[in-house]
Amino acid sequence: MNFIILNGPNLNLLGKREPEVYGHRSFEDFLEELQKKYTEHSIRYFQSNHEGALIDTLHEYGFQVDGIVFNAGAYTHTSIAIADAIRAIPAPVIEVHISNVFKRESFRHHSVLAEACLGSISGFGLDSYRLAIEALVNQPR
Ligand code: DQA
Repeated sequence: MNFIILNGPNLNLLGKREPEVYGHRSFEDFLEELQKKYTEHSIRYFQSNHEGALIDTLHEYGFQVDGIVFNAGAYTHTSIAIADAIRAIPAPVIEVHISNVFKRESFRHHSVLAEACLGSISGFGLDSYRLAIEALVNQPR
């Protein structure tokens, strides 16, 4: 199966950014391990700090891949344009968060994307991405 992981704003700084919340590991390091675990699947990766670039990537891969794992960062809580892009594509999208957003500030409790997604995973650190891949692999086709 073919998957893509999309990371939104500020997630390029994983490992350096608020390590007490997001951990000490870079995403590139984690991705290498994930790709080694799922050698029978293709897992691409794209990160952008720009809303439009994330939308363009959803449009590009949303008609090709078997599933998208998406951490939209703070756009989760605000971007109707990203929610509409998720609704526009046939690939199932799983919303992921490294932190448990429900244990944090109240503005993080609402996701404008969740309704457009197959499901959401929050609070398991970087393992949230692996859980999402596992859920996509187990999806009935
Ligand atoms: C996040 C949670 C968001 O509220 C925040 O804006 C992020 C990261 C997470 O992975 O826990 O940038 O999506």
